[in-house]
Amino acid sequence: MKKVITTTINCEERELVVEPFHSLLDALRNTAGLTGTKKGCDVGDCGACTVILDGKPVCSCLVLAAETDGAEITTIEGLQTAPDKLHPLQDSFMMLGGAQCGFCTPGILMMAKALLDENPDPNDDEIRFAIAGNICRCTGYTKIIDAIRDAALHMRAHSGAGDLSAERSRPAGLSAKQRGQA
Ligand code: FES
Ligand code: FES
Repeated sequence: MKKVITTTINCEERELVVEPFHSLLDALRNTAGLTGTKKGCDVGDCGACTVILDGKPVCSCLVLAAETDGAEITTIEGLQTAPDKLHPLQDSFMMLGGAQCGFCTPGILMMAKALLDENPDPNDDEIRFAIAGNICRCTGYTKIIDAIRDAALHMRAHSGAGDLSAERSRPAGLSAKQRGQA
């Protein structure tokens, strides 16, 4: 029997009609129309479907939509700091080549956001550990780690200013190639 749930998705209250067997991933993509969250394996192995549920990153393919009644969900569509401003993570991924085909990118960005929300200054091992469940078939991960480190640096530099979309200042140690400019 279908169930009506009310969730807050990307700061907007949404009423969704879901079947008891619908995953949160399917509800987001097919009912809420938010197709930025990707379906890779559908069994919890790839991380492409990662969203933030009540402050924690989850594989949305493993969560029943019916269980999210009253929950707060952030998807990739809600990551931007303003309609015309990218989140620093998105900016860094773009600048440093952290995305190639892009299929894994929404999941990795949401996992990275959850990491930086909890730990604003992660070392490379902590970044690797955080994204260990997110599979990328294109990049070899090095540029993803560079991009997350770069975004963390930018966010710490602007944490007092309250403007995460402030003009990017590139770390002096990055080459033009690393900045994605060569
Ligand atoms: S689609 Fe959910 S982990 Fe792969
Ligand atoms: S950029 Fe293609 S799978 Fe990661």
